[in-house]
Amino acid sequence: RERTFIMIKPDGVHRALVGKIIKRFENKGLKLVALKFIWGKEDMFKKHYADLSNRKFFPHLVKYMCRGPVVPMVWEGLHAVEISRVLLGQTCSEECEPGTIRGDFSIQGNRNHPMGRNVIHGSDSVESAKREIDLWFTKDEVVDWKSAMHTWIYEEDDD
Ligand code: GTP
Ligand code: MG
Repeated sequence: RERTFIMIKPDGVHRALVGKIIKRFENKGLKLVALKFIWGKEDMFKKHYADLSNRKFFPHLVKYMCRGPVVPMVWEGLHAVEISRVLLGQTCSEECEPGTIRGDFSIQGNRNHPMGRNVIHGSDSVESAKREIDLWFTKDEVVDWKSAMHTWIYEEDDD
């Protein structure tokens, strides 16, 4: 089953949105398989956002991510990557729909701002998810388990 890497950014932590954000993933039926609370180091964010390293806003983005603690997580489920991107909403706060995490909790997008405050990160493809999970978690920090709710979320196990 598919896994995605999600990280609550320093603004999400400071604004005390951690519980609310986690609840949205739980409500959707995704399953938590890894979570930690850390103050990330600059070199980790440089690796994490490596594909944006030649963009003008890159130093600002790295600085923003280092400004406070973050909550890296791994969520598992059917189409976990795509479904999580929908839960997050668009990158720019001006465009993201109400009902999404960014749509409900962020106001300053990044179109005219060097870093923005968009509360949360989510992997943009299955390949990036694998790379990001390996960057932030060791193998034994990702837990294999079967949720008691599984058969009420997926029909495939029906007899
Ligand atoms: P993440 O989930 O954080 O990866 O956001 P995203 O996938 O929606 O966007 P992307 O990976 O393209 O960019 C990563 C982060 O860089 C965004 O969340 C923004 O904080 C910032 N960013 C992206 N594009 C721009 C831009 O055009 N200008 C500025 N200033 N910042 C940007
Ligand atoms: Mg991205």
